[in-house]
Amino acid sequence: MAQHNVLAAPARPADPCTIVIFGGAGDLTRRKLLPALYNLKAAGLLPKELAVVGVARAKMSHEQFRDVQVKDIAQFATRPVEEPLWGDVRDALYYQDGEFADSETYRRLGVLLGEIAGKHGTGGNVLFYLATPPAFFAEIVTQLAAAGLVQQARGWRRVIIEKPFGRDLDSARLLNGQVAQALDERQVYRIDHYLGKETVQNIMVFRFANGLFEPIWNRRYIDHVQIKVAETVGVEERGGYYETAGVLRDMIQNHMFQLLALVAMEPPTSFEADAVRDEKSKVLKAIRPMRPEDVLQRTVRGQYGEGILGGHKVPGYRAEAKVSPTSSIETYAAMKLQVENWRWAGVPFYLRSGKRLPSRRTEIVIQFRQPPLLLFEGAAIDEIEPNRLVMHIQPDESIEIQMKAKRPGPIVQLQTVKLDFSYKDFGETSAATGYERLLYDCMIGDVTLFHRADTVDAAWQIATPILDVWGSIKPRDFPNYAAGTWGPASADELIGRDGWHWWNSELA
Ligand code: BG6
Repeated sequence: MAQHNVLAAPARPADPCTIVIFGGAGDLTRRKLLPALYNLKAAGLLPKELAVVGVARAKMSHEQFRDVQVKDIAQFATRPVEEPLWGDVRDALYYQDGEFADSETYRRLGVLLGEIAGKHGTGGNVLFYLATPPAFFAEIVTQLAAAGLVQQARGWRRVIIEKPFGRDLDSARLLNGQVAQALDERQVYRIDHYLGKETVQNIMVFRFANGLFEPIWNRRYIDHVQIKVAETVGVEERGGYYETAGVLRDMIQNHMFQLLALVAMEPPTSFEADAVRDEKSKVLKAIRPMRPEDVLQRTVRGQYGEGILGGHKVPGYRAEAKVSPTSSIETYAAMKLQVENWRWAGVPFYLRSGKRLPSRRTEIVIQFRQPPLLLFEGAAIDEIEPNRLVMHIQPDESIEIQMKAKRPGPIVQLQTVKLDFSYKDFGETSAATGYERLLYDCMIGDVTLFHRADTVDAAWQIATPILDVWGSIKPRDFPNYAAGTWGPASADELIGRDGWHWWNSELA
């Protein structure tokens, strides 16, 4: 199968196809997938021969499904809903009810796909999107295979699988095994919406298209790396799911380990899918799984109690809907990881993520070593701050380098100044949901930005020993941070023991 250059701007409309969304009546479909398809349509990247089938339990006609989507797109579109663009998408929507565990659902789906292929000229190409709770993933791929719906006799058949992919190493391996029995690995697209974010894709461009940084991108010049994903939201209506997850499974094992991999990977030999995925996999494998004593020293977990956020009182996690009043699920975690290879030996990677923190912000901070001699000692306290390169992923999309400069005047006074580049400078406001690029890539057969089985395995090898220790030693101090604060004090101590502090751009 042809591989595509991830750095080349996609230009042609995707292949004709039918997109089948399992969980088509759910939140992801209305909030992200349909708005993303509409954005692709507006960008001229959808084929004319396209149909979308929602599959879910509720009884509904095609027309009723369309009516629901019309209301939802009005609420969730990220650009103005205009005819005839939206009308084309709307008229290509279909619905099929059925239980995911019932083979009859798949038999009827096969019939519908045949009718649609004739009517819309989509050929035999079908993209199945598993936007369901994870408990259904194995069931659906197995049923699809049994019904002959993933055979690629006439056209391609691909399956996008949402996160979480497993809940620990054993369950991920089991799921990978079940998926491998039904599908060829090249048909599997394990999605991570962080990899669809513009600024996340820019990390590779920044590193490998600029000769300036690569020579200093290593242990000789970099002191440590901080990766932060701070959210202001709580668990909202997802308490039931979150009680089975926690922030380590929900954010760190997938999104944040991918950010780490992009920052720390070796340059791939090309930008072809497997070359990139090989390097990401290698770097995750270079993170040695923690022993129980390391977990105690190098990780911190937290759970929010009630507090004030944005001027409003918000409840603690244990008071959220569908959450146990004695829950020991973590809504915050911080950890120190070591990438044990020649480039990074001895350079700590500090990761932290939490819900109900004071602001929503994702950023990567590369902190450089101090100059060998502090010639300007005593000039001003500010001078001991090291150089930093900050990649702002969201909500600001920018890159900033913090440097020292002399303040104008007769005495030597140093001040931190910023060199920065903002995506706004391109003059375009991004209307993306983050799913556009990934849906498009799947439709053209580019797996580069999707997880391969071995990458998922490597990520669980890092996360599982931590989860094991956390599972066996119940936290005694939960809730240990108030909503609207920066997490538990022990997280400050974690990085403070090494002589540093967490960097928060919003406080700088
Ligand atoms: C999802 C998590 O994967 O990412 C959510 O399940 C989280 O809990 C969300 O809120 C954050 O995504 P974003 O794009 O808003 O940073």
